[in-house]
Amino acid sequence: MYKSIELDYNFKDLENFLDEETLTIHFDILYKNYLNRLNKVLDQNHYDFGYSKEELIEHIEEFPIKDRDTILYNLGGVLNHERYFTILDPHSSLKKTPFLKKIEETYGSFSNFKEEFLKVASYLVGSGYTNLVLDKDGKMLIINTSNQELPDFYGFYPLISLDLWEHAYFLKYHQKKEEYMQNFFNYLNYDEINALYEEKTKEIQSL
Ligand SMILES: [Fe+2]
Repeated sequence: MYKSIELDYNFKDLENFLDEETLTIHFDILYKNYLNRLNKVLDQNHYDFGYSKEELIEHIEEFPIKDRDTILYNLGGVLNHERYFTILDPHSSLKKTPFLKKIEETYGSFSNFKEEFLKVASYLVGSGYTNLVLDKDGKMLIINTSNQELPDFYGFYPLISLDLWEHAYFLKYHQKKEEYMQNFFNYLNYDEINALYEEKTKEIQSL
């Protein structure tokens, strides 16, 4: 069985970004429901859980066609939420890192990047995520994905994912989605994102 990730912060420490109730429902119920449904359908297929969750995407054809949508939808729900929760940080600090250098090369400044990210996010229709990704050439792009689609399905390497389903912000922000999106950048773990950027860049260079 795939296991839940462990978080290294307490929900109450993020209260200026999101209230404890929203985060508890989001992580303990909604994220874990995706994980439980994924484990259940894989178990029904007598799967040995030999691949990592990421590897499973590339091996989807080993499962019966009737179960592939269920597997991919719930796997998306698991991996998208794991990325979102892993990159949150109550003690966020943006440092000079290779990630920031790449942002500045691509968008001119971090503030321009944020503006562009929020612009793309405003185009999302319905539920989904706005993501900062790398493409197969290592170029940075901002893309929207619907529902629980994974950027990986399109050959992208996600670095940042902002959950724009209403369950992510509605209890605290109500209709003020823009405030939630703005505040997100004040609670990001930029060390974690830089580590992901360096790991994915190496992976792309080795292709
Ligand atoms: Fe969510």
